[in-house]
Amino acid sequence: MKNEWLPTAENYKKMVDRALEGCFRLPESDPMHGFAEAARYSLLAGGKRVRAMLVLEFCRISGGRPEDALDVACGVEMLHAYSLIHDDLPCMDNDDLRRGKPTNHIVYGECVATLAGDVLQAEAFRSVLHAGVSESARLRCARLLADAVGMDGMCGGQYLDMIGEGKTLSADELDDINLRKTGALLAASCAMGTAAADGSREQEKAALQFGRLIGLAFQIRDDMLDVLSTSDELGKPVGSDREENKNTYMALLGPDACSREIRRLTDEAVALLRGAFRDTAFLEAFAEKLAERKN
Ligand code: IPE
Ligand code: IPE
Ligand code: MG
Ligand code: MG
Ligand code: MG
Repeated sequence: MKNEWLPTAENYKKMVDRALEGCFRLPESDPMHGFAEAARYSLLAGGKRVRAMLVLEFCRISGGRPEDALDVACGVEMLHAYSLIHDDLPCMDNDDLRRGKPTNHIVYGECVATLAGDVLQAEAFRSVLHAGVSESARLRCARLLADAVGMDGMCGGQYLDMIGEGKTLSADELDDINLRKTGALLAASCAMGTAAADGSREQEKAALQFGRLIGLAFQIRDDMLDVLSTSDELGKPVGSDREENKNTYMALLGPDACSREIRRLTDEAVALLRGAFRDTAFLEAFAEKLAERKN
């Protein structure tokens, strides 16, 4: 009997890594070769592919075929890679290690790294707008992505994160920053999966809300790991937040309160998911895994 394809994290990751491997490939003779290499360096550097998996699985549980949403998932990973390149720049978090390798600007210089981020952002939208889903689904996905990245999303959050350095912020202000800088893209990934499958607006709303909740938990876990992990395990520097005088949940609340908050957010996310979708076992286990992740 032929082996049946199963929606597992491993299979999703393979699917995405294989598709991304085909992106930004130019022959050495092409004048853009060096530029494409810089984009590939960060795109293929071995991320967990959390956002892509959310796109593919939400597509599946919304009645679509994951493979049809693959270009949407790749687009989200391009956008995410852009955000990481810029986040690491000396004018931002000034970090020299990412996914276990020297950051883009360390290898290619600040100018090329900045441009590699820029091109990944544009190509992210191109990938979404060329995805093999219905015309209305493509547009819906592109709009969700734009909403997640602009003022109310990642860029706005990064701005607030930066101007908040050294100031004492309230928990609500910190939530606002984290929802924008991290929650918005994770939430959009979930909703884009549903949109790619032409799911209902109610499902899309639930997907967004699930993503916001696990997105907040994701950033709290990220802040914990920045204090409690090692750079070997994380693949990025530890202690970076303290060095940059960042406002984090760890500094504000300490590790026990962080763990409790992650638990509360994850439980709420799972309950919401069960109320809106069927066949939620993968996502329930995935949310649990993210809550306890070590990198
Ligand atoms: C890191 O995201 C940046 C944050 C939003 C906290 P990930 O932890 O998903 O990074 P990769 O893609 O696995 O490297
Ligand atoms: C950044 O948050 C979120 C992004 C929008 C990239 P962090 O600055 O905490 O992410 P890491 O720890 O460098 O991955
Ligand atoms: Mg940052
Ligand atoms: Mg950073
Ligand atoms: Mg961090």
